[in-house]
Amino acid sequence: MFALGFFLLAGLLCQSLGQYEYDDEYYFPSAPVEGLSTPTCSQECECPLSFPTAMYCNDRNLKFIPIVPSGIKYLYLQNNHIEEIKTGVFDNATDLRWLILDNNNITSDKIQAGTIDKLSKLEKLLFSNNKLTKAPGPLSKSMDELKLIGNQLSSFPSNTLSGMENLTTLHLSKNKLTTESITGAFKNLKSLVLLDVSENKLKKLPSGVPPSLLMLYADNNDIDSIPNGYLAKLPALQYLRVSHNKLVDSGIPAGVFNVSSLLELDLSFNKLKSIPEINESLEHLYLQVNEINKFDLTNICKFSSPVNYSRLKTLRLDGNNITHSSMPDDTANCLRQASEIIFE
Ligand SMILES: *[C@@H]1O[C@H](CO)[C@@H](O)[C@H](O)[C@H]1NC(C)=O
Ligand SMILES: *[C@@H]1O[C@H](CO)[C@@H](O)[C@H](O)[C@H]1NC(C)=O
Ligand SMILES: *[C@@H]1O[C@H](CO)[C@@H](O)[C@H](O)[C@H]1NC(C)=O
Ligand SMILES: *[C@@H]1O[C@H](CO)[C@@H](O)[C@H](O)[C@H]1NC(C)=O
Ligand SMILES: *[C@@H]1O[C@H](CO)[C@@H](O)[C@H](O)[C@H]1NC(C)=O
Ligand SMILES: *[C@@H]1O[C@H](CO)[C@@H](O)[C@H](O)[C@H]1NC(C)=O
Ligand SMILES: *[C@@H]1O[C@H](CO)[C@@H](O)[C@H](O)[C@H]1NC(C)=O
Repeated sequence: MFALGFFLLAGLLCQSLGQYEYDDEYYFPSAPVEGLSTPTCSQECECPLSFPTAMYCNDRNLKFIPIVPSGIKYLYLQNNHIEEIKTGVFDNATDLRWLILDNNNITSDKIQAGTIDKLSKLEKLLFSNNKLTKAPGPLSKSMDELKLIGNQLSSFPSNTLSGMENLTTLHLSKNKLTTESITGAFKNLKSLVLLDVSENKLKKLPSGVPPSLLMLYADNNDIDSIPNGYLAKLPALQYLRVSHNKLVDSGIPAGVFNVSSLLELDLSFNKLKSIPEINESLEHLYLQVNEINKFDLTNICKFSSPVNYSRLKTLRLDGNNITHSSMPDDTANCLRQASEIIFE
């Protein structure tokens, strides 16, 4: 028999040039080496005797989904050439918890009714890099993770995720979503921790996002402002990324980043001319490639005193119109924890 190994698969999304402290990571059971399969396993796949609830059908040039026998909980179908999900394939797969379909060619119109929508115990659906134009479903209310990165979603009806009280992770980056198309879609997701809507066509940050959110990623959109009080409604938020957007000074209301939960704020690659006001608890501030032309310490060090100082560890200001010499003399006292202040 073979031991069930685990390997670390870094999230597709976080190819971050090492800029961020946080990277999400997923553990997947590794695909088994050739070996004995359970007798009920589909002949195209492998169901290891040591892990009989998993069926590995990934990386096999499959054009179709094999019939899934009963008892399977974890189904790996990534990296094939699957184009459709036909009636019947999941009829006996009533225990299915994880369905991994990343990197196939499935279109929304070829997902037949009575397939994914009948998987009442489904918890993870990984469906990135396919050709979906709408979210599959209706999905089970037991979902905890949904990944639809790199599809062609242009709509996302407000009832798509309704009742998913345990959904913690939602990846919708690299689609064609507009501000209007996601209106109301995230409300009442009371366990949601990570929402990624980067690389879409949003003009505004998503509205009605739940207060449980820890990470909100909205890079590479057309966002020009942060609504007044937006962060005050997200008391747990620690990571906010809005890089590669169209933020301008007039779109940043006074005090909008004055919240003590936030640890990382990425406003790089925008059109800001000044350093926004932040709270002293912020640890990482990314402002590279903006149009900043003065080092205004007051916005970062309002509170500064011998015992009160900024918690900033990283401050990136490269790609702006300021140099080290624009830095006021009293900076060091306030930025005493900043090990990385980058100007160029
Ligand atoms: C998807 O289909 C396109 C052509 O329609 C083909 O070029 C591509 O290789 C296919 N990809 C996969 C993963 O099968
Ligand atoms: C489902 O299981 C039953 C009983 O084992 C079997 O007769 C039937 O052919 C299976 N259906 C499919 C689609 O595999
Ligand atoms: C959410 O998780 C809890 C605890 O595991 C479980 O009791 C509950 O049924 C789940 N909710 C749904 C809708 O599956
Ligand atoms: C930031 O918010 C706190 C209350 O949460 C308030 O006491 C403080 O004055 C605010 N700071 C600024 C600069 O507005
Ligand atoms: C930072 O937030 C804390 C808690 O809300 C608040 O007391 C403090 O005044 C804020 N700092 C600034 C500079 O506004
Ligand atoms: C630290 O700064 C906060 C405002 O941000 C202020 O309320 C507090 O009194 C200051 N503490 C000291 C010891 O200066
Ligand atoms: C850059 O800064 C210098 C001096 O601080 C100023 O003279 C110049 O106009 C600025 N350039 C831009 C493009 O803002």
